[in-house]
Amino acid sequence: MGIQITPSMLSADFANLEAEAARIAGADWLHVDVMDNHFVPNLTIGAPVVEALSKVARQPIDAHLMITEPDRWAPGYVEAGAQSVTFHIEAAQAPVRLAREIRAKGARASMALRPATPIEPYEDLLPELDMVLLMTVEPGFGGQAFLDVCLPKIRRTRELLDKHGGDIWLQVDGGVSADTIDRCAEAGADVFVAGSAVFGAADPDAMVAQLRSRAEQHAPSR
Ligand code: DX5
Ligand code: ZN
Repeated sequence: MGIQITPSMLSADFANLEAEAARIAGADWLHVDVMDNHFVPNLTIGAPVVEALSKVARQPIDAHLMITEPDRWAPGYVEAGAQSVTFHIEAAQAPVRLAREIRAKGARASMALRPATPIEPYEDLLPELDMVLLMTVEPGFGGQAFLDVCLPKIRRTRELLDKHGGDIWLQVDGGVSADTIDRCAEAGADVFVAGSAVFGAADPDAMVAQLRSRAEQHAPSR
């Protein structure tokens, strides 16, 4: 798989999610941020909204669960229609079982890491996963500044993924924009979440195209 752009619906108009999804026809996925006010200090939307959006959107849904107890709740997001479900490793009790359950229900299984969580302890989990999400801001809110301190971890994660082979995607999330996507792509990310950059643009779909083209230009040849 090549470069993919996954706009975050957190920065879209929650009163018009169907229309907002239609404004970004060029997006590969819709990134939906689920927050429970426990794992992060913010409360957003849950499975019923994912279910409603999945029925009207043309793009598949990439659910990012910033919640405690993902072991209990994540499988329900596959049932709600998400085709990719990301749980935070800091919150998962049994990540291998959880990833297998997500896959068995028919979705891609993905593991997210907060900025200060290292990837190395989880190397052996990689074969259980379809994607690794590296947060490039502290999770909880859109519109925060990109944390350059995360770049070395993106590079190290890319090396681990290449070493293991297969086709595990590497997603970055937080502060990704036309100003920061080049260095994320250079470091080896291939799936890019962007919320405020896309929905804050005069033409969100043109921004999706611009982000894709920048990432393609800056991706290392592999
Ligand atoms: C933050 C969320 C992100 C957020 C990104 O906790 O996981 O997906 O919406 O928003 P921007 O692109 O504005 O940083
Ligand atoms: Zn997110």
